[in-house]
Amino acid sequence: MHHFNYKNGRLHCEGVDLHEIADTVGTPVYVYSSATLRRHAKVIAGAFDGMDCLIAYSVKANGNLAVLKTLAAEGCGADVVSGGELQKALVAGIPASKIVFSGVGKTREEMALGLREGIHQFNVESGAELEVLSEVATSMGKVAPITLRVNPDVAAGGHPNISTGKAGDKFGVPWDDAPALYERIKTLPGVKAVGVDVHIGSQIGDLGPMRAAFEKTIGLVKSLRAAGHDLTRIDLGGGLGIPYKASDNPAPPSDYAQMIREVTEGLGLQVVLEPGRVIAGNAGVMITEALYHKPAPDRTFLIIDAGMNDLMRPALYQAHHDIVPLSEPSADKPMVEYDVVGPICESTDKFATKRHMPEVEPGARIAFMSSGAYGAVLSSQYNARPLVAEVLVDDAQYAIVRRRPSFDEMIALEQTPDWLS
Ligand code: LLP
Repeated sequence: MHHFNYKNGRLHCEGVDLHEIADTVGTPVYVYSSATLRRHAKVIAGAFDGMDCLIAYSVKANGNLAVLKTLAAEGCGADVVSGGELQKALVAGIPASKIVFSGVGKTREEMALGLREGIHQFNVESGAELEVLSEVATSMGKVAPITLRVNPDVAAGGHPNISTGKAGDKFGVPWDDAPALYERIKTLPGVKAVGVDVHIGSQIGDLGPMRAAFEKTIGLVKSLRAAGHDLTRIDLGGGLGIPYKASDNPAPPSDYAQMIREVTEGLGLQVVLEPGRVIAGNAGVMITEALYHKPAPDRTFLIIDAGMNDLMRPALYQAHHDIVPLSEPSADKPMVEYDVVGPICESTDKFATKRHMPEVEPGARIAFMSSGAYGAVLSSQYNARPLVAEVLVDDAQYAIVRRRPSFDEMIALEQTPDWLS
């Protein structure tokens, strides 16, 4: 469900004509819908109504401050994986008491920041991190509330690059090590175990692997409780998938919530969730302009003004994004097949192969749908292309929420050493 629709033959985001945004801001540009963000936050929260549940939006999916502020106003907390994300969440008005800190490589400085701010919990990913966190907390006269992220050795399905819960993945502590690590926690002065954490991957449409991982983790909670650990929370991570194309049929949030109600029933646990994509994914599009047609012996390339530096997902994960023209094609518009590519000097700078779509003339604009999550956040300045701009729409109004840097700004951090000046 999203708020991108044709009105009078022109693609709109809520009440705003996307051509107007492209005219004033230029292309490529990301456009986000406030109504979609709010709706998704409400649907997720509503599905867990009546449960003790913290919805900690996963900032990595889309960390734009305006997006975070929109979600903060909906009552979302935040799942962060760096000091930078933690600071952004705070700046956006998300209270520290609703922030959880995940990630395998927290530095001492990042730990100290979380402790100073008094975040809800640290999701600890190794025995070594545990020792360091205890040391840092002790030196500050604090005790860090922690969960251990466990690796349940369950395959999430989907693309291997975004699977995190198999034994060979770098995430979580090995399953069999967990009981001993919880015993170790008892002896460390700077950490207190409050729960267990699990996250098996992203873009998961089938609830089966999630249920298997969650049930296994609940079993661990029970045995740890029996061993005298006072655990009050379970963090079940994020990972719920979204439809990227019409034939995708991921489990809806209501089924996901029902499954979680079932597996956590009667345990008196606070459930922490870290949804990212399901909130932001379909709330954004990337608009780009067609530059050239380039015929080759067996195909036609459609060259556009966005590159893999602006939207990495197709290059990194062979991800599919629907491509939709901003001007609604007439019924007699010829259907053609394009390899849609960007200007970057890499063969992986390809958004679609032999995509069947209405003809796109040079100068026409197209939108990459479902680009709100893991879109702009993954963008770079590769090939000295200034960072892509971002715009937030709210009903009939819109605002630039990250502008494209000028050339001077783009190179401002670079310095010429004395011997070259
Ligand atoms: N919690 C943890 C510990 C995570 O590692 C992630 C995602 C999430 C929550 C949020 O997962 P979500 O609800 O968004 O599935 N760049 C890739 C996805 C990487 C996911 C990384 N971790 C993509 O574009 O598909």
